[in-house]
Amino acid sequence: MTPDPLVARLRAAGCVFAEAEARLLREAATGAELEALVRRRVDGEPLETILGWAEFAGLRVAVAPGVFVPRVRSELLVDLASDGLAPGDIVVELCCGVGAIAAALAHRVPGIELWASDIDLDAVAVARRNLPPERVLEGDLFDALPPELRGRIDVLVANAPYVPTDEIAYMPSEARDYEHLVALDGGPDGHAIQARIAVECSEWLAPSARVIIETSRRQAGRTASLLSDQGLRTRIHRDDERDGTAVVGRAT
Ligand SMILES: C[S@@+](CC[C@H](N)C(=O)[O-])C[C@H]1O[C@@H](n2cnc3c(N)ncnc32)[C@H](O)[C@@H]1O
Repeated sequence: MTPDPLVARLRAAGCVFAEAEARLLREAATGAELEALVRRRVDGEPLETILGWAEFAGLRVAVAPGVFVPRVRSELLVDLASDGLAPGDIVVELCCGVGAIAAALAHRVPGIELWASDIDLDAVAVARRNLPPERVLEGDLFDALPPELRGRIDVLVANAPYVPTDEIAYMPSEARDYEHLVALDGGPDGHAIQARIAVECSEWLAPSARVIIETSRRQAGRTASLLSDQGLRTRIHRDDERDGTAVVGRAT
């Protein structure tokens, strides 16, 4: 069989799933337009931002250049957050990026009252395509939220940046060169944003609320102690299959 030249080109550029990528790129465009997409991919841009969508928890969510591409490992947060969630519960996703976690929760548990926020206007613009636009707010952590949510949030979920600043240089180029620094940089020890969420969350939580924060296996102990220092009962959850780690903190 004649080798597929597009597959060969993608493979030579280091694309591990070259056949699947070739198929998706061909579905997205033809002719000169396809060639432009292939060049971007060969130059190292993430496939998802080229296609304009990413698959997450069984959904196709919109993405765009510069914003954080949702990772499979974050599906663990959807599983943890949806456990015990009921229609009418108030759910907030801080640091929502394109809002993939919130969108998956809305899909899984219809009828929840969902809010999402992010500090990056580009991310907010995309999240408004994945969620009801009026529920996606722009701002620094809790500053973005309507004050009437104070003391009423049932589930607070966040995949906040947690890469230590000095380690960003060692991340894959697809992240380092194509995602905004604000989406990756967790400060000197990687816990700067998580620590702020832990300290500020108590006045926003309902009496028996849960806080769910993504972290890494190495950083999980510190993420958990940030929450337990604020009086939350914590448990570390690990999903080896999706390489996900998260800490759940319970208010009571
Ligand atoms: C690791 S990305 C995760 C995005 C999304 N939660 C996901 O899992 O796909 C972190 C997000 O946090 C946002 N962010 C960083 N600092 C923030 C802050 N102080 N307030 C609100 N959002 C912030 C970034 O813009 C970025 O979209």
